[in-house]
Amino acid sequence: MNEELIRSALGVLDNSYAPYSHFHVAAAVLTDTGNVYTGVNVENASYPAGICAECNAVAKAVSCGERKIRAVAIVGRDSQGKSSGYVSPCGICRQVLREFSVPQELKVILAKDVGDYKETTLEELLPASFGPESLG
Ligand code: THU
Repeated sequence: MNEELIRSALGVLDNSYAPYSHFHVAAAVLTDTGNVYTGVNVENASYPAGICAECNAVAKAVSCGERKIRAVAIVGRDSQGKSSGYVSPCGICRQVLREFSVPQELKVILAKDVGDYKETTLEELLPASFGPESLG
């Protein structure tokens, strides 16, 4: 399962649009319906308008009617074309993932390659989070 999700993310990594940072990111989310949605980072000449890979994958899933994410795999490649480090989701991506998950149950897979990954949870990455339930 982890490997399949990593493969999905790696499969779209070449679509990443990162002409400014040259840092390419791709993500794949698995929903509670068993579907997988991918996303890549899409940068912009107006830098803050850029969108992260995870946010794009979540937006794609939600646009298709999904509301619960069970797992996410994230892969990256630097300007040298190397996947030298595990790409951890940025703060905004963590909060976006939070909206559509149970933090203790959301599996976050940080992968350099299919056979080289670390597994954590959203709860570990975003403890004591603020979510939809917090609004009462
Ligand atoms: N990036 C992501 O796509 N996801 C993250 O969680 C971290 C950062 C992208 C944003 C930008 O296009 C590039 O990586 C460098 O920050």
